[in-house]
Amino acid sequence: MDKAKTAILISGSGTNLQAFIDAAEKGDVALDIGLVFSNVDSAYGLVRAADAGIPTAFISHRDYDDREAFDRAVAGVLDDYDPDLVVLAGFMRILSPWFVRRYAGRILNIHPALLPLYPGLNTHQRAIDAGDEWHGSTVHFVTEELDGGPRVLAGRLRIGDGEDAEALTHRVQAIEHRIYPKAADWVARGRVSFRDGNAIRDGEILEDPVVEDFT
Ligand code: GRF
Repeated sequence: MDKAKTAILISGSGTNLQAFIDAAEKGDVALDIGLVFSNVDSAYGLVRAADAGIPTAFISHRDYDDREAFDRAVAGVLDDYDPDLVVLAGFMRILSPWFVRRYAGRILNIHPALLPLYPGLNTHQRAIDAGDEWHGSTVHFVTEELDGGPRVLAGRLRIGDGEDAEALTHRVQAIEHRIYPKAADWVARGRVSFRDGNAIRDGEILEDPVVEDFT
């Protein structure tokens, strides 16, 4: 089958990006990563992309007066590449409704919590403070609701006794590197799709994400 033309948007270190690069190089996923975009020029993910021979682009949001103007500039870069799939991998920008609608059904995000728990920031500390037994990360389609689009795949772990946010961050990130390329591969292969605001998997609405436990 044809691989999905995939653009990955980053702002930082890009460990998730690296997981995609590794999975694509191994042939584990039906993804052809043809563009890495960053809004931060010092993002280490740009180095990872260049090392892998993937074209990169950078535009600073600071050069734009409003959110949508920046998003339109990003879309200009994306549309030159014409991606089937747009993967947000630590892209630290809230997207405008205009952008989300333009790529509806083709944008994925990963959020470090068991959504719908803890949208927004500081998710690991919030899970610890709440005394949660389980925590993890969730891949979802992006809609206009922040961290609120239909969920595809979650990876979860048990929070350890006395585990701090830093330790939890590392363990959750290791899970992300497993589940994010996998979920994107499902979308690339048409096994999961977005229809009428829902995630559809094998013909059925996914009311809840597929959940994988990691110990
Ligand atoms: C990840 O933890 C992801 O959940 C969040 O941003 C982080 C990105 O990390 N959306 P990295 O840049 O992939 O290392």
